[in-house]
Amino acid sequence: MDWGMKNRLSKIIKPKDGHTVMLAVDHGYFMGPTTGLENIKTMVDPLLRYADTLMLTRGALRNYIDPHTTIPIVLRVSGGTSILNESNLLHEGTVVDIEDAIRLNVSGVAFSILVGQPHERDTILGMTEYIDKANRYGIPVLAVTAVGKGLGKDVRYLSLASRMAAELGASIVKTYFCKDFEKIVETCPVPIVIAGGKKQPEQDALNMAYDAIHAGAVGVDMGRNIFQSSNPVGMMKAVNAIVHKKHTPKEAYALFTSTKK
Ligand code: R5P
Repeated sequence: MDWGMKNRLSKIIKPKDGHTVMLAVDHGYFMGPTTGLENIKTMVDPLLRYADTLMLTRGALRNYIDPHTTIPIVLRVSGGTSILNESNLLHEGTVVDIEDAIRLNVSGVAFSILVGQPHERDTILGMTEYIDKANRYGIPVLAVTAVGKGLGKDVRYLSLASRMAAELGASIVKTYFCKDFEKIVETCPVPIVIAGGKKQPEQDALNMAYDAIHAGAVGVDMGRNIFQSSNPVGMMKAVNAIVHKKHTPKEAYALFTSTKK
């Protein structure tokens, strides 16, 4: 693997323990001003010290994040549909040229694929075209296995989508946690991070992060369960403690409740 690619990957997945806490705040690209992200700067600034990587859109990066930041950036580069267009939801294509990603000095880019839906071919070819471009510059592509309506978030579907993403050239796969998650990890040759999904009670989200790490995920790429929490800083610290400090969910929850709002 090229030096630049290895160097960028090491900014996303920390070499000290092979794990990562990615903070995902890219939701605006199809959801607009999501609850908790009305002002990304206000939300994100106090969280950054507990995150290894920040995942967001180029507009959010340029408008809300201080260019002097040291946090490595994973830039969302796919999109094109909104939550208002249900029949085409997640029928995504490229929304950021590789040149602009380079100009923004990103450590990685994220592209969603929609396996098993009518538009799967478009999204998959969109991702592979982006991978070819990103490979020229040593930029890793994180594939997001988006799940369309009617497709269950189960091990059969998610291991198919994750393995496909890896075989098609993704450097990291982001997928959902599910029962028998270790089977997804065992059959996917690249590192896996889990998305948080919809907001759930903090204890449940911490249990999920713990179970995912213990089933072999290298980390989490979590959004709503952090920025929609009653105490985002506490939740960020708790997730970080599970991923990097071997905290149990109980210890992490105690950290959450003892952190000042
Ligand atoms: C969705 O495709 C976006 O990439 C989100 O960043 C991702 O789903 C993670 O956020 P959440 O933990 O809120 O699901």
